[in-house]
Amino acid sequence: MRSLLTCFALVAVVLAVPAKDCAHKLKESVAPPRQWIKEGPASKDLPIELKIALPQPNFSELERHLNEISDPFHERYGQHLSKEEVEALVAPHAESISSVNEWLATHGLMGDDLSRSPAQDWVKVTVPVGLAEKMLNTEYHVWRNAKDGNTIVRTTSYSLPENLHGHIDLVQPTTLFSTLRGMDTNFRFSKESKQLDNADAPPINIPSASGGQVDASCNRTITITCIQQLYNAVGFTPSGKNGNKIGITGYLEQFANIADLQSFYADQRPDALNSTFEFISVNGGLNNQTLSEAGAEANLDVQFAFGLSHPIPGTFYSTAGRPPFIPSVSTPTNTNEPYTDWLDFVLSHRNPPQTISTSYADDEQTVPPSFARRACNQFAQLGARGVSLMFSSGDGGVGDGDDDPATQQCFTNDGRNKTQFAPLFPPACPFVTSVGGTIHVPETAVFFSGGGFSNLFARPAYQQHAVTTFLKKLPKGTYAGLFNPAGRAIPDVAAQADLFRIFLSGRIVSIGGTSAASPTFAGIVALLNDARISKGLPSLGFLNPLLYTISAAFPKGFNDITVGNNPGCGTPGFNATQGWDPVTGLGTPNFGVLKDILTGPFAHFARED
Ligand SMILES: *[C@@H]1O[C@H](CO)[C@@H](O)[C@H](O)[C@H]1NC(C)=O
Ligand SMILES: *[C@@H]1O[C@H](CO)[C@@H](O)[C@H](O)[C@H]1NC(C)=O
Ligand SMILES: *[C@@H]1O[C@H](CO)[C@@H](O)[C@H](O)[C@H]1NC(C)=O
Ligand SMILES: *[C@@H]1O[C@H](CO)[C@@H](O)[C@H](O)[C@H]1NC(C)=O
Ligand SMILES: *[C@@H]1O[C@H](CO)[C@@H](O)[C@H](O)[C@H]1NC(C)=O
Ligand SMILES: *[C@@H]1O[C@H](CO)[C@@H](O)[C@H](O)[C@H]1NC(C)=O
Repeated sequence: MRSLLTCFALVAVVLAVPAKDCAHKLKESVAPPRQWIKEGPASKDLPIELKIALPQPNFSELERHLNEISDPFHERYGQHLSKEEVEALVAPHAESISSVNEWLATHGLMGDDLSRSPAQDWVKVTVPVGLAEKMLNTEYHVWRNAKDGNTIVRTTSYSLPENLHGHIDLVQPTTLFSTLRGMDTNFRFSKESKQLDNADAPPINIPSASGGQVDASCNRTITITCIQQLYNAVGFTPSGKNGNKIGITGYLEQFANIADLQSFYADQRPDALNSTFEFISVNGGLNNQTLSEAGAEANLDVQFAFGLSHPIPGTFYSTAGRPPFIPSVSTPTNTNEPYTDWLDFVLSHRNPPQTISTSYADDEQTVPPSFARRACNQFAQLGARGVSLMFSSGDGGVGDGDDDPATQQCFTNDGRNKTQFAPLFPPACPFVTSVGGTIHVPETAVFFSGGGFSNLFARPAYQQHAVTTFLKKLPKGTYAGLFNPAGRAIPDVAAQADLFRIFLSGRIVSIGGTSAASPTFAGIVALLNDARISKGLPSLGFLNPLLYTISAAFPKGFNDITVGNNPGCGTPGFNATQGWDPVTGLGTPNFGVLKDILTGPFAHFARED
């Protein structure tokens, strides 16, 4: 830190002399992810928005607060932090702010050129690629994705003046080759509604369901009624007026169509007809309501999350920025991973929805660790403020879901080309709830349910017992070297994930993927929050410590899934087993039981137990 003063103090004194940085030192270097092909150098004039992350020296303190307020056995359970309290805990050191300011000033960047997050832990500045190359001592290239042909401007390594290494965690876009995609892979036009007409078949006996029965049709077609029956939520009417809200995030130019939503409501939720949702554009995210522009992912998420939780007010966030995108004269800027733009946006708001579902993810190994950790820290900040975050666990079982051997990520990218299971990020972040998938009634694990173990994040304490119990049952040597047994394990929970009946561009469609499971689980969480808030109790916030505690203390809170497996990477994957497993987690929710635990005499069960 002292050397910094030397380098920049000199510049300040001898103002007339062109600014000169300390010597650059390599900050980060990555191997280009498998399916990206290097084309020519990027145009020097292309504007690029650099996001600079300043270290958060007190993050461990935030984590301590988060663990306490999310642990139902702790006396601070539910005492969420305010926006300002969270911001104070992620604020960078004043010295980091001034060092970074001085560095930017030596490149002529100051004042209005810069924008900052409320906590000042992020600085954003738009510069031409040529200047970014000078600042980072690197060269940007255009990279083409072998699979979809999209192109992106990135570099495989960058440097920073040596004195700044302790004051900057990362700069992006540099080494982040995004493969962000929706988890709605099982898409087909439905063979039609007669599947619903199977009224004669006797209902299926499911003891944990509402009234102990589920309509026979639910074995082939999932509707709102099926979910309510199966997860024991029939007859619960949320207030919808107590301040409780639910949110869905949308990316990759996916539009949730309002006319389709009305058709869906007419079909499955007539009492919700004419109700709609709040649309929020992040960074200029569009909202094209032309029926033919409706997105399968956005429609699925909105129809099931809002259909299940009606009349709880719904919000759909449309975030612009589509990596990969096509840089051209008509493209004004290059962009970052869009969910960090969404995170910046939602963290800057005072009252975000208490429950938010996201059905997009990347292969974990394509996300630079520095970036994954910072994004994960942002999810922790939302959790500390009382927001429950659901993410689809993935649609490739233990693999990445890509059956093309040329592009799949079951091989490491680190030069060793070692075979390895491919967990996804953000579901691998320990501060979100990852949701795997089931199919049929009675429920079994669906074959594509994403699950496994992070290679980046260590296993958090809240799942230590559940996961080691599973690992102990695994025959010795199973998949040795293919997964990291000490890693954060996914998924945490599961929900139905296939054969969902939705409306898309005016037609009935059958759709599946863990994309269906996440908004379904989120819908149930929103109902639980509603019941709690109506009783004057705080929202559930970061869920995982609570979920694992309930599963251990009140096994009826979840329907344990014990049949099925999740093949991938040329293996049969893991098996669903009694207790937690890396296919369906703790199982699917029993709303009625969970509501009684969380609002009844057990609302503070930890202390009375
Ligand atoms: C971190 O926390 C300590 C103790 O609470 C405090 O003294 C210090 O100012 C904090 N650091 C920052 C950068 O806020
Ligand atoms: C549900 O469907 C599956 C797959 O078609 C079938 O094997 C199972 O017998 C059905 N269950 C019931 C209760 O009909
Ligand atoms: C929805 O609006 C239509 C037309 O205004 C009206 O006829 C219908 O009763 C409304 N339905 C509900 C459930 O409010
Ligand atoms: C919306 O969709 C219509 C019809 O396809 C198209 O003409 C229009 O350009 C789209 N608008 C935007 C902003 O994408
Ligand atoms: C990595 O290993 C796989 C399987 O052995 C092989 O097909 C592939 O060509 C290898 N890739 C590289 C880049 O060496
Ligand atoms: C899954 O279960 C089958 C049948 O019991 C067994 O043969 C197989 O070894 C199990 N696989 C794993 C990974 O545990």
